[in-house]
Amino acid sequence: MSKLYVNPNVKIGKINKEIYGNFSEHLGRCIYEGVYVGENSDIPNKNGMRTDVVEALKEMKLPVLRWPGGCFADEYHWEDGIGPKESRKKLINTHWGGVLEDNSFGTHEFMELCEQIGCETYVNGNVGSGTVREMSEWVEYMTFEGVSPQADRRKANGHEGAYTVNYFGVGNENWGCGGNMTPEFYANLYRQYQTYIRQYNPDKKIFKIACGANAADYNWTDKVMEIAHPFMDGISLHYYTVPHTWEKKGSATKFSEEDWYNTLKKTCFMDELLDHNIAIMDHYDPKGRIGLIVDEWGTWYDVEEGTNPGFLYQQNTIRDALVAGINLNIFNKHCKRVRMANIAQLVNVLQSVILTEGPKMVKTPTYYVFKMYADHQDAELVSSSLEIGETGMGEDKVKKVYESCSVKDGRLTVTLANLSLDEDEDIEIVLTESAVKSVAGEIVTGAMDAHNTFDAPETVKTAAFEGCKITHEGLNIKLPAKSVVKVSAIIE
Ligand code: AHR
Repeated sequence: MSKLYVNPNVKIGKINKEIYGNFSEHLGRCIYEGVYVGENSDIPNKNGMRTDVVEALKEMKLPVLRWPGGCFADEYHWEDGIGPKESRKKLINTHWGGVLEDNSFGTHEFMELCEQIGCETYVNGNVGSGTVREMSEWVEYMTFEGVSPQADRRKANGHEGAYTVNYFGVGNENWGCGGNMTPEFYANLYRQYQTYIRQYNPDKKIFKIACGANAADYNWTDKVMEIAHPFMDGISLHYYTVPHTWEKKGSATKFSEEDWYNTLKKTCFMDELLDHNIAIMDHYDPKGRIGLIVDEWGTWYDVEEGTNPGFLYQQNTIRDALVAGINLNIFNKHCKRVRMANIAQLVNVLQSVILTEGPKMVKTPTYYVFKMYADHQDAELVSSSLEIGETGMGEDKVKKVYESCSVKDGRLTVTLANLSLDEDEDIEIVLTESAVKSVAGEIVTGAMDAHNTFDAPETVKTAAFEGCKITHEGLNIKLPAKSVVKVSAIIE
């Protein structure tokens, strides 16, 4: 039996609800078909937004959405996406499949989507191919309340009041698709561009995010922090779980037990990545003012057979549920620095929470993990320590269980991911200075490759978890193999 020591009275920091954010790009069928079908579609919609998708995201308590990219952001010119739809400029989406982008989903539509979901907005600006003036005017267009050239345009386009931009990203992957820059060059550009992101509403300040590193490129973090840290509120980090190589990533649904452990081992690397990036940030920002924003993460497999390789459409199995459960526990545990995270991507692209096919929609195993973990949103992370061994195959050994614990309104939430394919784990939760009054649990589990299809949409879903019992010391949990579990305990 392993032991998990939890002290609900030792509060470590707030788990920002934004850790449970998503990312949506003009890529494949994410925006078009995935969320936006247009007002004249037969698919039930409100102002063009799919009702089924919006409802599912509300139920999942999506707190924040990033848009319009991704690589697309540094090719996006916001003025092409405003005004009457029939006269909006069309362009070729060169990054993603070379398809025609008709710009029918633009700034007003994104804001409408976020309003329907009830989530915050994270807009990503264009540094790679856009000008300082363009970025500055976009911010004015969206957020200026009074009379100004851009605010007047917004009003003429049908939105009288200013929009709220909660987060603004100054470029995306500027080390790669966003301009192939060096960190020094980008950091200086960042200083310049961010100057003109004016704070028009003092009580709704825009949180400015600098482009951070690709995975373990610590030199990028170091240089950008060194040169630009006084001018940023956050710096991003992108890390994808790619089972094999970028050329041959592996299938989303047809994989071996070795692939399972290899994928999870690569996922667990997030822990180390965060520690190293945070150590660099601590050096330049010892008071912890600047947030680490993991605004792209998740699994990246080969596309599903027969689909456009530029659309990045992949299925989602119990392996993805584990990837989500592990990462979210890791983010929670680093909540003093990790202020936001955005899984890639919302619908129909990479590790999506939702898949659609015409009028049909399925919630993926990843969706159910996000929904289950929502009790952590804005809760206090509390001290916990797990004594646990390893699991795995060959060289791919991983810690067997990843956990995190939080408290909110007298409720202790413990989330656990058991990485083992075949071993259940008996865990004794030892609570310090508290007693459990009542307990309930939920679980997401199944065969390692179990997934939801449009013909069988509920193969994987959340079920009640019966494996937790109140004990003299706290709780006893019988955690099944390859499962993600939430235990909710009312404590006193
Ligand atoms: O999420 C897909 C792509 O991955 C994004 O456009 C880019 O930022 C990253 O390389």
